[in-house]
Amino acid sequence: MNKNFKNILWILLIGLIVLASCSLSPLKDLQNNESDNTDVIDSNLIIVGFSQLGSESDWRTANTKSIQNALIEKNGFSLIFQNGRQSQENQIKDVRRFIFQQVDYILIAPVTETGWDTVLAEAKEAGIPVIIMDRMIDTKDESLYVASVGTDKYAEGQKAGLWLEKYLTEQKNKDNASMEQKSKEDASQGNESLSEETASQQENGQNTDTVNIVVLEGTLHSTAQIGRSNGFNDIAGHHTNWNILAHESGDFTKAKGKEIMAKYLQQFDDIDVLVSQNDDMTFGAIEAIQEAGLTCGVNGKIKIISFDAVSEAFDKMEAGLINVDIECNPLQGQQIADIIGRLEKGETVDKVTNLDGKVFEAANASIDRIGRTY
Ligand code: AHR
Repeated sequence: MNKNFKNILWILLIGLIVLASCSLSPLKDLQNNESDNTDVIDSNLIIVGFSQLGSESDWRTANTKSIQNALIEKNGFSLIFQNGRQSQENQIKDVRRFIFQQVDYILIAPVTETGWDTVLAEAKEAGIPVIIMDRMIDTKDESLYVASVGTDKYAEGQKAGLWLEKYLTEQKNKDNASMEQKSKEDASQGNESLSEETASQQENGQNTDTVNIVVLEGTLHSTAQIGRSNGFNDIAGHHTNWNILAHESGDFTKAKGKEIMAKYLQQFDDIDVLVSQNDDMTFGAIEAIQEAGLTCGVNGKIKIISFDAVSEAFDKMEAGLINVDIECNPLQGQQIADIIGRLEKGETVDKVTNLDGKVFEAANASIDRIGRTY
C-alpha cells in the first residue's frame, strides 16, 4: 500500500470515529420542539425532557402551552417535548430517550397510573429527578419521583356529585313550593279532596323518583377517570334513587364522547343526567343529543355535568347547554418551573402540589369566565 493511500485511509477512519461519537453524544443536541432537531443547546440551560401524554383535549392543549411558556430559555430552561399520543408504550420510549440524552429533569404527564416502576427506576439509577404532572402514578416506591403537581381528581368527582345533590334538592323544594301553592288555591276554592291529594304527593316526595344517570368516563385506569368516578360514586352511594344506567370510556375525546352518547340514547329512553368526565366528550355528547332531537342543559331534558371548564364549555354554559362544569386547572407550568428552581438551589420541595378548582354554573358563566385564558 503506498504511503499516500495509507494516509487517506487514516483520515477517513478518524473522520468516521468523530462522526459516530457525535451521533451518539447524549446531550444538548435537541431543542424545544415537538419533533427532534439538532440545534445545539446552551449547556448553562436546565434541560427538561417532557413526556406529555397526548393532545386529546382542549384542556391538554392549555396544559402543554402552560409548560412551554414557563420552561423557556429566558427562565433558564431548554425543553424537549414528546407527545405520547395516549400510549404508555410511547411515553416509556420517550422517557428512555431522555435518560439516554442525560437530560437534567424528566417531566411526565402519565396517561395511566400503573406500569411506571421499571423506567422510573432507570431514571433514578441515571440520577435524573422525575416530576409527575397532572395525573399520578401508582407505585409503592415514592422515591421514584421527587414531586408531583396536579389537581385532586377524587375531589372533582365529589364536587360533581354534591352539585347534583344540591340541584335535585333545589328542584324538589321548588316543586314542593308550587304544590303547596296549588293546595292552598284548591282549599280556598273549597276543593278539599284535591288539596289532600296535593299534600300527600308532597309528603311522598315525588322528586325522590329515580334519577337516571349515564357516565362518559375518561381514559380507563387514568387518575382522572379513577378519581372522578370514585368521587362521584361515593356521593351517589348515599342516594338510593340515583340509578347509574351505564358508564363507558370515551377516552377524553370529542369523537368518542359523541359515539358513546349516541349509543346510550339508543339504549335508554329516559336519561335524566349525563356526567361527562371532560369537556371534549361533553361537546361530542351535546352533538349526539341534538342529532337525536333531544334537549339538554338548563331548560333541557338531560342535565349535563362536565369537567375541565375550558373556554368552549363557558360558551355552552352561556347558551344553557351545560348545567355545571367542575374546574380542573391545566396551568401547571409555573409550579413546575418553581419546583425545579428550588431543587437547583438544593432546597426541599413538597412531594404533592394540588391546584384548586372551582365549580362553575351556567347561571354565572358569563361573569365567571372573565379573565380566564383558556
Ligand atoms: O387529566 C386531566 C384530564 O385529561 C382532563 O380533564 C382532560 O380534558 C384531559 O384529557
